[in-house]
Amino acid sequence: MRIEAKRFIKSKLKEIKREIGTRGVLVATSGGIDSMVCVLLAHKALGRKAVALFIDTGLMRDSDKKRVKDELGPFGVNMKFLNAQKDFFKSLKGKEDPEQKRKAFRQTFYSTLSKAVKQYKVESLIQGTIAADIIETKGKIKTQHNILEQIGIDPKKRFGFKIVEPLRQIFKYQVRQVAKELGFSPRVYSQMPFPGPGLATRVIGEVLPRKIRLLRKATRIVEEEMERLRPFQALAVLLNDKATGIRKGKRSFGNIIVIRSVESKDAMKASVTRIPWPVLEKIRDRIIKDTPEVVKVLFDITPKPPSTIEFI
Ligand code: XMP
Repeated sequence: MRIEAKRFIKSKLKEIKREIGTRGVLVATSGGIDSMVCVLLAHKALGRKAVALFIDTGLMRDSDKKRVKDELGPFGVNMKFLNAQKDFFKSLKGKEDPEQKRKAFRQTFYSTLSKAVKQYKVESLIQGTIAADIIETKGKIKTQHNILEQIGIDPKKRFGFKIVEPLRQIFKYQVRQVAKELGFSPRVYSQMPFPGPGLATRVIGEVLPRKIRLLRKATRIVEEEMERLRPFQALAVLLNDKATGIRKGKRSFGNIIVIRSVESKDAMKASVTRIPWPVLEKIRDRIIKDTPEVVKVLFDITPKPPSTIEFI
């Protein structure tokens, strides 16, 4: 269903003014389309009283911080950047279970925000939770990083701030319509979704800085080579298992990278992108060349369901 983007924006600006008033608000943005739309809604409603915060979790892609600056800068948004890499890696240390990892990320995410709320002297947080996040977390598929109230956690009591979620009733394709209407460039409104917990959703087993570095390189290659095909979402995953291979003529027990690309409307169901073979080969060759730790590159041909889009 198409939404009437103009009307939607008007009603959300009213809602934000009513909910936040003059006290100022923090909008956490990872550079993803949902949070970028929230930043601009808050900025249009409250001006400098809306503080956009990019938290460097250490789990982002190469380009995320720069994209946030480049895309939000021209709108005159009040932007802040915070490096919390150490806290996130510490909280993920030793955790192998996917839901434990997701919960550890969520806990660190909100305690970081809790400190930031005090630092910037605001009382509320606007976040880009969309309908699919709520449905999947309530359905116990996976704990999305940004769901609290819907599963009975009171953010005011637990973390000391109120949460406003302007996009909670709409799906990704509708967020894109709103982003376009707000004046974002096609780079933003056509971009692939990227999850808040970042590359941590694509590392099986313990999340370590060295694994993230490897996965970041593979991710960049997949995204660059897939850009022309414009899939709903294309990604790389680092498995926990290893496989025997040959590097420099010697036996090497190395890493396994999975390439995944899916087509979807609302991320609730997804089919596999029919990637032309030469594109897959190019991705494989670049990954083999740029990441000597990798001895096997696989392509995931599973739709959602039974798979989910991310691997954890
Ligand atoms: P799954 O893996 O559940 O993903 O099929 C559906 C869509 O949601 C994204 N995703 C997340 N986004 N926080 C987010 O902001 C999360 O915790 C999270 N987990 C998954 C995923 O990238 C896909 O677009």
